[in-house]
Amino acid sequence: MPEADRPRRGLKVAIAGKGGVGKTTLAALLARTAAARGYRVLAVDADPNPTLAPTLGYTAPIRPLAEEEDLIYQRAGKEGLIKLNPTVDDIPDRFAVEHGGIRILVLGGIRGGGSGCACPANSFLRALLRHLVLRPGETVIVDLEAGVEHLGRATAQGVDALLVVVEPDVRTLETAARIQALAREIGLTRVYAVGNKLEGKLDEDFIRSSLPNDLPLIATFPFSQEIRRAAWTGRLPEVSLPQVEEILTQLEVSLSRQEIR
Ligand SMILES: Nc1ncnc2c1ncn2[C@@H]1O[C@H](COP(=O)(O)OP(=O)(O)O)[C@@H](O)[C@H]1O
Ligand SMILES: [Mg+2]
Repeated sequence: MPEADRPRRGLKVAIAGKGGVGKTTLAALLARTAAARGYRVLAVDADPNPTLAPTLGYTAPIRPLAEEEDLIYQRAGKEGLIKLNPTVDDIPDRFAVEHGGIRILVLGGIRGGGSGCACPANSFLRALLRHLVLRPGETVIVDLEAGVEHLGRATAQGVDALLVVVEPDVRTLETAARIQALAREIGLTRVYAVGNKLEGKLDEDFIRSSLPNDLPLIATFPFSQEIRRAAWTGRLPEVSLPQVEEILTQLEVSLSRQEIR
């Protein structure tokens, strides 16, 4: 798409899927590609076991936002007196680290009692996803916790699109189906599957035939020795993959359609 035609509204996308499928890898790839397209990128690690920053090449320790107890109490209130809509707009500027033109924010564990829990840390971190207001040309890419249990209404309301990563592995497809069912229930309309670590056409056929009908496959990535070996250091090399460009373009188009409607 020519630069001038590109919709420059903000874009918030979250990445879900079973553990180990490649969520963090995809988050890092998308973050780099969006930054290269001129977006101001905020990469949010919402996995309680965070690895997005080192994957992007930032190796210094980062204190997760969930540990900023004073800030959380100040914004979200104490137990029993929870503010449901805490102010969060200044948080990325104050707490994100910057590396390679990408701002990285590490949330840490959103824990305690599942989706019904109204503890302040939950309220605060969910609000962060929901109320971060994007300026044109900003992109937020959220690397979610594995599985489905944490996927609450608030997370869904916070994002424009959800990418669900699957492998040619029935367990990852089962998880994807559960994520899709939940996403539908909470009103998320743009939910797309991304196939990862494919070895040949048979793998792609298997994935296509196993996905639920309402979970379109928007991209597939082959198994890559280069990416696999990146696990030796935990840092993703600068690989250029047309599929990542394609995903970003499809998201831009899908969101611009909604704007016109
Ligand atoms: N396309 C791929 N080809 C080969 N290995 C991959 C590919 N994508 C991811 N990996 C490897 O799979 C492992 C899990 O990836 P990761 O992104 O950490 O998954 P998740 O965040 O879903 O747990 C890592 O060792 C990563 O290097
Ligand atoms: Mg991960």
